[in-house]
Amino acid sequence: MVVAAGSGSRLGHAVPKAFVPIAGLPILGHALRGVLSSPGVSEVVVVAPAAHRGEAQDVAAAVCRDVGSHADVTVVVGGAERGDSVAAGLAGLSPEVEIVLVHDAARCLTPVAVVERVVAAVAAGAVAVVPGTAVVDTIKQVDERGLVVATPERSSLRSVQTPQGFRREVLERAHAVSSAATDDAGLVERLGERVLVVDGDARAFKVTTPDDLETAARLLGMPAT
Ligand code: CTP
Ligand code: MG
Repeated sequence: MVVAAGSGSRLGHAVPKAFVPIAGLPILGHALRGVLSSPGVSEVVVVAPAAHRGEAQDVAAAVCRDVGSHADVTVVVGGAERGDSVAAGLAGLSPEVEIVLVHDAARCLTPVAVVERVVAAVAAGAVAVVPGTAVVDTIKQVDERGLVVATPERSSLRSVQTPQGFRREVLERAHAVSSAATDDAGLVERLGERVLVVDGDARAFKVTTPDDLETAARLLGMPAT
């Protein structure tokens, strides 16, 4: 599923973030290109804002034509928080699906290779898989006064991205307890299930601020629109 129901308050555009164009294609369209170009993906549920259902369907149809995908694409309406949108997406999956990827539309330049690595790791037996990259900064854990309480060993830290991949049954069990998280793997960890990190990619960064939009446009070789 691709979650695209957020408003994009930090980006600050009049339209929801997933519908802001980069180089002429909405962010959602770029994200779907990566997902639908992966031969392992047979069904996509797009979770969209209520007012943008039709537009989401049109964007998906155009991308399917463009990349020659025959995947089934459906659009459902999201909720107030990201976790609510993931829960809505789960409810929209067809019964036969056993492996589910949860992807942020905002990580719109995620390479197909990342999608395929995640699918392959779940298919090989992992119950939950997240792409991650090594962190370059040293990370400090602080208390409410800003005082450092711990300095985790940097080499053991990963900055995680999406798509996150799951056995469907495990993700549904996690969301049955609570959907309140910005990270689905975190919900699965709370069940005591093992979560595997595979190699992510710098291009899977999340478009969050106007600067990120510029970066994405530059990576696509176009000036921002
Ligand atoms: N998302 C969603 N439903 C929500 C909130 C977020 O589907 N209620 C999706 C966004 O569309 C995005 C992804 O979750 O693809 C990651 O969220 P984020 O980058 O925080 O997007 P927004 O919430 O839209 O941005 P902001 O926090 O700046 O408002
Ligand atoms: Mg948000």
